[in-house]
Amino acid sequence: MVTYLDAELAPLKNTGQIRLYGEEGFEAMRKACRLTATALDELAGIVKPGVTTNEIDRFVFEFGMDHGAVPATLNYRGYTKSSCTSINHVVCHGIPNDKPLREGEIVNIDVTYVIDGWHGDSSRMYPVGEIKRAAERLLEVTHECLMLGIAAVKPGARMGAIGEAIQKHAEAERCSVVRDFCGHGVGQLFHDAPNVLHYGRADEGAEMRKGMIFTIEPMINLGRAHVKVLSDGWTAVTRDRSLSAQYEHTVGVTDDGCEIFTLSLAGLDKPGLPG
Ligand code: MF3
Ligand code: CO
Ligand code: CO
Repeated sequence: MVTYLDAELAPLKNTGQIRLYGEEGFEAMRKACRLTATALDELAGIVKPGVTTNEIDRFVFEFGMDHGAVPATLNYRGYTKSSCTSINHVVCHGIPNDKPLREGEIVNIDVTYVIDGWHGDSSRMYPVGEIKRAAERLLEVTHECLMLGIAAVKPGARMGAIGEAIQKHAEAERCSVVRDFCGHGVGQLFHDAPNVLHYGRADEGAEMRKGMIFTIEPMINLGRAHVKVLSDGWTAVTRDRSLSAQYEHTVGVTDDGCEIFTLSLAGLDKPGLPG
Protein backbone atom coordinates (compact mmCIF):
# COMPACT_ATOMS: atom_id res chain seq x y z
CA MET A 1 0.00 0.00 0.00
CA VAL A 2 1.43 3.38 -0.92
CA THR A 3 0.85 6.30 1.36
CA TYR A 4 1.12 10.00 0.67
CA LEU A 5 2.46 12.75 2.86
CA ASP A 6 2.67 16.51 3.01
CA ALA A 7 6.12 17.38 1.66
CA GLU A 8 6.51 20.25 4.13
CA LEU A 9 6.07 17.99 7.14
CA ALA A 10 8.11 15.01 6.00
CA PRO A 11 11.72 14.17 6.80
CA LEU A 12 14.10 14.44 3.84
CA LYS A 13 14.67 10.81 3.05
CA ASN A 14 13.09 8.34 0.66
CA THR A 15 10.74 6.23 2.79
CA GLY A 16 8.72 4.97 -0.16
CA GLN A 17 5.92 7.35 0.70
CA ILE A 18 4.88 9.81 -2.00
CA ARG A 19 5.29 13.49 -1.17
CA LEU A 20 2.62 16.01 -2.10
CA TYR A 21 3.91 19.54 -2.67
CA GLY A 22 2.05 22.81 -2.31
CA GLU A 23 2.38 26.03 -4.27
CA GLU A 24 5.71 26.95 -2.60
CA GLY A 25 7.23 23.66 -3.72
CA PHE A 26 5.89 24.13 -7.23
CA GLU A 27 7.32 27.65 -7.36
CA ALA A 28 10.75 26.46 -6.16
CA MET A 29 10.70 23.67 -8.77
CA ARG A 30 9.79 26.15 -11.54
CA LYS A 31 12.97 28.06 -10.76
CA ALA A 32 15.34 25.07 -10.72
CA CYS A 33 13.71 23.50 -13.77
CA ARG A 34 13.76 26.74 -15.76
CA LEU A 35 17.53 26.99 -15.32
CA THR A 36 17.99 23.37 -16.40
CA ALA A 37 15.86 24.01 -19.51
CA THR A 38 17.83 27.15 -20.32
CA ALA A 39 21.14 25.27 -20.12
CA LEU A 40 19.74 22.59 -22.44
CA ASP A 41 18.66 25.40 -24.80
CA GLU A 42 22.19 26.83 -24.81
CA LEU A 43 23.65 23.41 -25.55
CA ALA A 44 21.78 23.33 -28.87
CA GLY A 45 24.30 25.92 -30.11
CA ILE A 46 27.30 24.12 -28.62
CA VAL A 47 26.86 20.50 -29.73
CA LYS A 48 28.60 19.96 -33.06
CA PRO A 49 31.26 17.71 -34.58
CA GLY A 50 34.63 18.14 -32.82
CA VAL A 51 33.24 19.27 -29.46
CA THR A 52 34.10 16.91 -26.57
CA THR A 53 31.63 15.79 -23.94
CA ASN A 54 34.00 17.16 -21.29
CA GLU A 55 33.60 20.60 -22.93
CA ILE A 56 29.83 20.13 -22.72
CA ASP A 57 30.16 19.10 -19.09
CA ARG A 58 32.33 22.13 -18.36
CA PHE A 59 29.65 24.38 -19.83
CA VAL A 60 27.00 22.75 -17.64
CA PHE A 61 29.15 23.32 -14.54
CA GLU A 62 30.01 26.95 -15.34
CA PHE A 63 26.46 27.86 -16.39
CA GLY A 64 25.20 26.48 -13.09
CA MET A 65 27.80 28.39 -11.06
CA ASP A 66 26.97 31.62 -12.93
CA HIS A 67 23.30 31.22 -11.97
CA GLY A 68 23.55 30.07 -8.34
CA ALA A 69 22.99 26.39 -9.07
CA VAL A 70 24.94 23.22 -8.32
CA PRO A 71 24.77 20.16 -10.59
CA ALA A 72 23.13 17.37 -8.58
CA THR A 73 25.28 14.68 -10.17
CA LEU A 74 28.56 16.15 -8.83
CA ASN A 75 29.74 13.66 -6.19
CA TYR A 76 26.42 11.81 -6.36
CA ARG A 77 27.13 8.18 -5.38
CA GLY A 78 30.71 8.60 -6.59
CA TYR A 79 29.80 10.24 -9.91
CA THR A 80 32.20 13.12 -10.59
CA LYS A 81 30.69 15.03 -13.54
CA SER A 82 28.07 17.77 -13.89
CA SER A 83 26.09 15.98 -16.59
CA CYS A 84 25.56 12.63 -18.27
CA THR A 85 26.36 12.43 -21.98
CA SER A 86 25.08 9.27 -23.64
CA ILE A 87 26.10 8.70 -27.27
CA ASN A 88 24.48 6.34 -29.84
CA HIS A 89 24.07 2.89 -28.20
CA VAL A 90 24.69 4.32 -24.73
CA VAL A 91 21.30 4.19 -22.99
CA CYS A 92 22.05 6.51 -20.06
CA HIS A 93 24.71 7.61 -17.52
CA GLY A 94 27.42 8.09 -20.16
CA ILE A 95 30.40 9.82 -18.51
CA PRO A 96 31.79 12.93 -20.24
CA ASN A 97 35.31 12.47 -21.64
CA ASP A 98 37.84 14.03 -24.03
CA LYS A 99 36.72 12.26 -27.20
CA PRO A 100 35.36 14.64 -29.85
CA LEU A 101 31.78 14.14 -31.05
CA ARG A 102 31.54 12.95 -34.66
CA GLU A 103 29.14 13.84 -37.46
CA GLY A 104 26.12 11.53 -37.44
CA GLU A 105 26.17 10.69 -33.73
CA ILE A 106 23.21 11.27 -31.42
CA VAL A 107 23.89 12.35 -27.85
CA ASN A 108 21.62 12.67 -24.84
CA ILE A 109 22.62 15.39 -22.39
CA ASP A 110 21.07 15.01 -18.93
CA VAL A 111 21.30 17.92 -16.50
CA THR A 112 19.98 18.34 -12.96
CA TYR A 113 20.53 21.69 -11.28
CA VAL A 114 19.89 22.23 -7.60
CA ILE A 115 18.71 25.69 -6.56
CA ASP A 116 17.93 26.36 -2.89
CA GLY A 117 17.83 22.59 -2.39
CA TRP A 118 15.31 21.93 -5.21
CA HIS A 119 16.18 19.68 -8.18
CA GLY A 120 15.35 20.41 -11.84
CA ASP A 121 15.99 17.24 -13.89
CA SER A 122 15.73 17.13 -17.69
CA SER A 123 17.44 15.71 -20.75
CA ARG A 124 17.25 16.05 -24.51
CA MET A 125 18.76 14.37 -27.57
CA TYR A 126 21.14 16.35 -29.77
CA PRO A 127 21.99 15.32 -33.34
CA VAL A 128 25.67 15.90 -34.13
CA GLY A 129 25.61 17.45 -37.61
CA GLU A 130 23.59 15.44 -40.14
CA ILE A 131 22.17 12.15 -38.86
CA LYS A 132 20.65 9.13 -40.62
CA ARG A 133 16.90 8.80 -41.11
CA ALA A 134 16.71 5.81 -38.74
CA ALA A 135 18.32 7.87 -35.99
CA GLU A 136 16.02 10.81 -36.64
CA ARG A 137 13.00 8.50 -36.50
CA LEU A 138 14.19 7.12 -33.14
CA LEU A 139 14.46 10.65 -31.73
CA GLU A 140 10.96 11.54 -32.97
CA VAL A 141 9.44 8.34 -31.56
CA THR A 142 11.19 8.78 -28.21
CA HIS A 143 10.03 12.37 -27.85
CA GLU A 144 6.49 11.31 -28.78
CA CYS A 145 6.72 8.59 -26.09
CA LEU A 146 7.68 11.21 -23.49
CA MET A 147 4.82 13.52 -24.46
CA LEU A 148 2.27 10.66 -24.56
CA GLY A 149 3.40 9.62 -21.09
CA ILE A 150 2.97 13.19 -19.87
CA ALA A 151 -0.51 13.35 -21.45
CA ALA A 152 -1.54 10.38 -19.27
CA VAL A 153 -0.80 12.32 -16.06
CA LYS A 154 -3.87 13.45 -14.10
CA PRO A 155 -5.20 13.02 -10.57
CA GLY A 156 -7.05 9.73 -10.15
CA ALA A 157 -5.18 7.91 -12.92
CA ARG A 158 -2.62 5.29 -11.92
CA MET A 159 1.11 5.61 -12.57
CA GLY A 160 0.81 2.61 -14.92
CA ALA A 161 -1.12 4.81 -17.36
CA ILE A 162 2.15 6.61 -18.10
CA GLY A 163 4.00 3.38 -18.82
CA GLU A 164 1.17 1.96 -20.91
CA ALA A 165 1.03 5.05 -23.14
CA ILE A 166 4.80 4.97 -23.67
CA GLN A 167 5.08 1.22 -24.28
CA LYS A 168 2.15 1.13 -26.71
CA HIS A 169 3.61 3.86 -28.90
CA ALA A 170 7.20 2.57 -28.80
CA GLU A 171 6.17 -0.97 -29.73
CA ALA A 172 3.73 0.21 -32.42
CA GLU A 173 6.78 1.92 -33.96
CA ARG A 174 8.81 -1.33 -33.71
CA CYS A 175 11.03 0.07 -30.99
CA SER A 176 11.61 -1.31 -27.47
CA VAL A 177 11.35 0.21 -23.99
CA VAL A 178 14.30 -0.13 -21.58
CA ARG A 179 13.11 -1.77 -18.33
CA ASP A 180 16.20 -1.31 -16.19
CA PHE A 181 15.86 2.42 -15.47
CA CYS A 182 12.82 4.47 -14.58
CA GLY A 183 11.63 7.98 -13.83
CA HIS A 184 11.39 9.05 -10.21
CA GLY A 185 9.87 11.39 -7.69
CA VAL A 186 11.98 14.56 -7.49
CA GLY A 187 11.95 17.76 -5.42
CA GLN A 188 14.17 18.32 -2.40
CA LEU A 189 15.48 14.81 -3.07
CA PHE A 190 17.09 13.89 -6.42
CA HIS A 191 15.61 10.40 -6.55
CA ASP A 192 12.47 9.84 -4.49
CA ALA A 193 9.33 7.70 -4.54
CA PRO A 194 7.53 6.78 -6.72
CA ASN A 195 9.39 4.87 -9.41
CA VAL A 196 7.93 5.89 -12.76
CA LEU A 197 7.93 2.86 -15.08
CA HIS A 198 7.98 3.43 -18.82
CA TYR A 199 6.04 0.23 -19.55
CA GLY A 200 3.08 -1.54 -17.96
CA ARG A 201 -0.68 -1.24 -17.69
CA ALA A 202 -2.98 1.64 -16.85
CA ASP A 203 -4.57 -0.22 -13.92
CA GLU A 204 -1.23 -0.71 -12.14
CA GLY A 205 0.76 1.44 -9.74
CA ALA A 206 -0.01 4.18 -7.29
CA GLU A 207 -2.85 6.62 -7.87
CA MET A 208 -1.69 10.05 -9.01
CA ARG A 209 -2.62 12.95 -6.75
CA LYS A 210 -2.40 16.70 -7.13
CA GLY A 211 0.93 17.95 -5.76
CA MET A 212 3.05 14.96 -6.81
CA ILE A 213 6.27 15.88 -8.66
CA PHE A 214 8.20 13.34 -10.71
CA THR A 215 10.23 12.81 -13.86
CA ILE A 216 9.26 10.88 -16.97
CA GLU A 217 12.35 9.82 -18.93
CA PRO A 218 11.77 6.94 -21.34
CA MET A 219 14.77 5.21 -22.89
CA ILE A 220 13.74 3.75 -26.26
CA ASN A 221 15.87 1.43 -28.41
CA LEU A 222 15.77 0.74 -32.15
CA GLY A 223 16.68 -2.88 -31.39
CA ARG A 224 16.08 -5.05 -28.34
CA ALA A 225 15.43 -3.70 -24.84
CA HIS A 226 18.30 -5.43 -23.03
CA VAL A 227 21.06 -3.32 -21.51
CA LYS A 228 24.30 -3.90 -19.64
CA VAL A 229 26.40 -1.60 -17.47
CA LEU A 230 30.07 -1.25 -18.43
CA SER A 231 32.94 -1.85 -16.00
CA ASP A 232 33.09 1.87 -15.12
CA GLY A 233 29.97 1.12 -13.06
CA TRP A 234 27.87 3.78 -14.80
CA THR A 235 27.68 3.59 -18.60
CA ALA A 236 24.59 1.60 -19.64
CA VAL A 237 24.59 0.33 -23.24
CA THR A 238 22.25 -1.73 -25.40
CA ARG A 239 23.41 -5.36 -25.47
CA ASP A 240 22.79 -5.54 -29.22
CA ARG A 241 24.54 -2.15 -29.72
CA SER A 242 21.40 -0.72 -31.32
CA LEU A 243 20.78 3.02 -31.05
CA SER A 244 19.06 4.28 -27.91
CA ALA A 245 17.41 7.63 -27.19
CA GLN A 246 15.94 9.42 -24.17
CA TYR A 247 14.16 12.67 -23.38
CA GLU A 248 13.25 13.69 -19.82
CA HIS A 249 10.92 16.23 -18.25
CA THR A 250 10.09 17.05 -14.64
CA VAL A 251 6.33 17.46 -14.12
CA GLY A 252 3.97 18.39 -11.29
CA VAL A 253 0.42 17.01 -11.00
CA THR A 254 -2.26 19.73 -11.09
CA ASP A 255 -6.07 19.67 -10.66
CA ASP A 256 -6.70 18.40 -14.17
CA GLY A 257 -3.38 17.20 -15.61
CA CYS A 258 0.17 18.34 -15.06
CA GLU A 259 2.55 21.25 -15.41
CA ILE A 260 5.79 20.54 -17.31
CA PHE A 261 8.46 22.42 -15.35
CA THR A 262 11.32 21.80 -17.80
CA LEU A 263 9.75 22.94 -21.08
CA SER A 264 12.01 25.02 -23.32
CA LEU A 265 11.06 28.69 -23.49
CA ALA A 266 13.03 28.87 -26.75
CA GLY A 267 11.18 26.17 -28.71
CA LEU A 268 14.17 23.82 -28.37
CA ASP A 269 12.55 20.79 -26.71
CA LYS A 270 13.68 18.72 -29.72
CA PRO A 271 17.00 20.29 -30.75
CA GLY A 272 17.83 19.66 -34.40
CA LEU A 273 14.44 18.19 -35.26
CA PRO A 274 11.55 19.91 -37.04
CA GLY A 275 8.83 21.38 -34.79
N1 MF3 B 1 19.84 12.72 -14.18
C1 MF3 B 1 19.70 11.28 -14.12
C2 MF3 B 1 18.24 11.03 -13.97
O1 MF3 B 1 17.52 11.42 -14.85
C3 MF3 B 1 20.49 10.67 -13.01
C4 MF3 B 1 21.93 10.74 -13.20
S1 MF3 B 1 22.72 10.14 -11.80
C5 MF3 B 1 24.36 10.12 -12.26
O2 MF3 B 1 17.73 10.53 -13.01
F1 MF3 B 1 24.99 9.91 -11.17
F2 MF3 B 1 24.52 9.19 -13.18
F3 MF3 B 1 24.68 11.26 -12.79
CO1 CO C 1 15.72 11.77 -13.78
CO1 CO D 1 18.01 13.29 -15.63
